[in-house]
Amino acid sequence: MKLTIINGPNLNLLGSRETDIYGNQDFDTFLNSLRSKYPNINLEYYQSNIEGELINYIQDSMDSDGIIINAAAYTHTSVGIGDAIKAINTKVIEVHISNTFSREKYRHSSYLSPVVDGIIIGFGLKSYELAIESFCSRDE
Ligand code: DQA
Repeated sequence: MKLTIINGPNLNLLGSRETDIYGNQDFDTFLNSLRSKYPNINLEYYQSNIEGELINYIQDSMDSDGIIINAAAYTHTSVGIGDAIKAINTKVIEVHISNTFSREKYRHSSYLSPVVDGIIIGFGLKSYELAIESFCSRDE
């Protein structure tokens, strides 16, 4: 199985960015631990701070069995990322590290949530692992 993790803006700074909210672990270290835990899953990873690059990558991920996306701030602003997800047939899970609903009001809305297959919010980096598990236990 091939799963694609896509991270949006500022998530390249995980481990040093607002550690009270996002924790102390950088994403590369976390990704290595995921790859060790799931040796039979081909885990692709892409991060960009640029909206159009994220849209290109979503379009290029149609061959994946599933996409796990944290669009970060673009979650709350990007019609284009929502449309890209709508345009592909691949299953998509939206994840967030923090509980966006317990934070500022502008983080309560998502252009992705209406068009994804599932949402996992607020479990720290574990949100990504729960998303992987959801693909592992999927029937179809
Ligand atoms: C985030 C929540 C967003 O509101 C924020 O802009 C992020 C990270 C999260 O994973 O908790 O950058 O997507």
